[in-house]
Amino acid sequence: MDFEREYREARDLAESGLQSAFADGVDGPHRELLEAMEYSLLAGGKRVRPVLALKFCEALCGDMEPALDYACGVEMLHTYSLIHDDLPCMDNDELRRGKPTCHVKYGEWLALLAGDALQAAAFERLAASRRTTPAANGRACAILAQAAGRSGMCGGQYLDIKWEGRTLDGEDLSRINGWKTGALLEAACLLGLTASTVEPAPEQWEAARRYAQQLGMAFQIRDDMLDVESTEEELGKPIGSDAVNGKNTYAALYGLEKCGELVAALTEKAKESVGGAFERPEFLCALADSLAARKN
Ligand code: IPE
Ligand code: IPE
Ligand code: MG
Ligand code: MG
Ligand code: MG
Repeated sequence: MDFEREYREARDLAESGLQSAFADGVDGPHRELLEAMEYSLLAGGKRVRPVLALKFCEALCGDMEPALDYACGVEMLHTYSLIHDDLPCMDNDELRRGKPTCHVKYGEWLALLAGDALQAAAFERLAASRRTTPAANGRACAILAQAAGRSGMCGGQYLDIKWEGRTLDGEDLSRINGWKTGALLEAACLLGLTASTVEPAPEQWEAARRYAQQLGMAFQIRDDMLDVESTEEELGKPIGSDAVNGKNTYAALYGLEKCGELVAALTEKAKESVGGAFERPEFLCALADSLAARKN
């Protein structure tokens, strides 16, 4: 298996799906709103969530295409979460995906609305997909809504800020990160299974959940490490932002060395989770390895 090539193919497919969101042109009396949405959505990014959705679908039915709208939807929702995460009232960051953040470029109220509209567009994309059945689309909307909401991304973002400056233990931190980051990564994997033309077995749902939870935890630990050890140039977002904001991070709680060990252990567990459950788990295993070593 050629991991780099497969990743590129999945990412390029997602990229073309995202570009089609602006196929009608960026015009009209609300042109600036559309521009702000496009600015953040098409700014690059690793596209990990769409790749997960596409590849889980492929692992089950041998084809990525059925999951393309779900893949685009989860990336739209993720991009909205990043725009809001960067706002002055949240993390107050000025660089994202190597470019000025949405509010720096367009102002706060417009960035807020661009995020809101991307969230709506995400659900529209899922609900209206013609690659999948209306019943699957309904289930997909429920999966994404649960991951994005009160006991998911928003709940995690609430705790992330509410508990700034407070001394937390590993359990509290896992709760924050499981919600703010893990939930959406899990949704991406489950959306891939939902889109598949082959019905997943119960143990495949369970395997995907476990994989995503372990991958999600490792992903946020790595994110916290990069905020300490990377450079702004390589990361495409500010470094040292967590310390300035008094964030509870894995890097602060455990130190970088222990974090590295945790990422390695979680990655192995994630790989074990999908190893026996899918006929073609190779890409998913290689993806876990690559995210553990990522530099941005
Ligand atoms: C950043 O997500 C926010 C976290 C959940 C840690 P990514 O690291 O996936 O950011 P992009 O999409 O590649 O920009
Ligand atoms: C944000 O976590 C997770 C989201 C829900 C957006 P961070 O605040 O650590 O993400 P970055 O480091 O700004 O990308
Ligand atoms: Mg944050
Ligand atoms: Mg942030
Ligand atoms: Mg971070």
